[in-house]
Amino acid sequence: MVKNKKAFITGIAGQDGSYLAEYLLSLGYEVAGIVRRNSTVEHQRNRIDEIEGIELSYGDLLDQSSIENALLSFQPDEIYNLAAQSHVRISYDIPQFTTQTNALGVLNMLEAYRRVCPKAKFYQASSSEMFGSSVDEDGYQRETTPMTPVSPYGCTKVFGYNIVRNYRNAYKLHTNNGILFNHESPRRGSNFVTNKVVKSAVMISLGLQDKLELGNMDAYRDWGHSYDYVRAMHLILQQDKPGDYVVATGETRSVRDMCEYVFSKLKLDYRDYVTQNPKFIRPEELPYLKGDSSKIRKELGWELTYTFEGMMDEMIEHWLEIFKKEKV
Ligand code: GDD
Repeated sequence: MVKNKKAFITGIAGQDGSYLAEYLLSLGYEVAGIVRRNSTVEHQRNRIDEIEGIELSYGDLLDQSSIENALLSFQPDEIYNLAAQSHVRISYDIPQFTTQTNALGVLNMLEAYRRVCPKAKFYQASSSEMFGSSVDEDGYQRETTPMTPVSPYGCTKVFGYNIVRNYRNAYKLHTNNGILFNHESPRRGSNFVTNKVVKSAVMISLGLQDKLELGNMDAYRDWGHSYDYVRAMHLILQQDKPGDYVVATGETRSVRDMCEYVFSKLKLDYRDYVTQNPKFIRPEELPYLKGDSSKIRKELGWELTYTFEGMMDEMIEHWLEIFKKEKV
C-alpha cells in the first residue's frame, strides 16, 4: 500500500493555511498544523472549523519546544511555514513582535526541521513586499529584482528569504521560497484592503453603513486568488531540486480601480462613499507591484484558475450572503 504523504502547516488557521489544508487533504495527504493559544478560540479557528481531518496542536514559532515536539510526533514529508505577522501597516505598530515572528521564527523553524526531519521538504512564505521600491525596467518584479523593502514587515521577510537560501546551500536541505504577490479570497482578513472594500461596499449597498475610510488609493497591487497560490506552494515542493519562485498574475490595478469595480458591481459610485483617513496611510508605502511569474509557469506548469473579476465577484457574493441572512 502506498503511504499517504504528510504535510505540516504553520499558520494553518489563516487564509492560505486553510486553503492549503483543504487542497492537500483532497490529494490524500495527512495534514497537521499548529495554532497559537487565543482567549477566544472561535476567532482563531473559524476558517478551519469545518475542515475534517486536520491534526491540530498548540504551538508558536517563538516557542522552539512546541515546534520540535510537533515535528517529532508527526514526522512530516513536507513543511509549509505560513505563520507570520502578515499585516504591513501593523508591522509599524509592533515592529519587534513582527521581527521576532517573521525573522527569528523562520530560523527557529529551520533549526527544528534540520534537527528533527531533515529529509522533509520546506516551503517558506516569502513576499513581494520584499521588493519594496524596486521595479525592473520593463515594469515587473521577478526572482532577480533587487530587494529594497520599505516596511518593517518587508525587512523581516527578506531575512526569512535569505536564511532559507542559506540553509539550502549550507546544509543541503530542500528549502524553497515562494515569492507570493497579494492574494485574496472571501477568507481574507477584513483589515486587508480588498476584503475591507468589499465588505463595506456590500454593507453600504444594504443600508448598513454610510461611508468607507481608506488610506492610499493610488497604490498598485497584483492581486490573485489564495486557492491558486496554495496550489503553487504544493507544486514547488513536488520538485526534485529546491528553488525560489515568483507567484503572481502579471496584472496590476490601483486600489481606486479595485474600488470602482466593486462599487459599480453593486450599482454604486465609489466616489459618493469613500473618503481618505490619514490613519490608514503608511509611514512609507510600496507604490507599485506587478509580478513576472514566467519561471513557475514555464518550469512547473503552474496556471491561474481565477480572473481578478471572478475573485472579486466571489468575495462580493460571500458578503452579500452573510449580510442578507443577518438582515432577515
Ligand atoms: N489594509 C489597508 N487598509 N490597505 C489600504 C487601505 C486600508 O484602509 N487603504 C489603502 N490601502 C492600500 C495599502 O496602503 C496598500 O498599498 C494596498 O492598499 C494593499 O494593502 P493590504 O491589502 O493591506 O496588503 P499589502 O500589499 O500591504 O500586503 C499584503 O500583500 C503582501 C504581498 O505583497 C499582505 O498579505 C502581506 O502579508 C503580503 O506579504
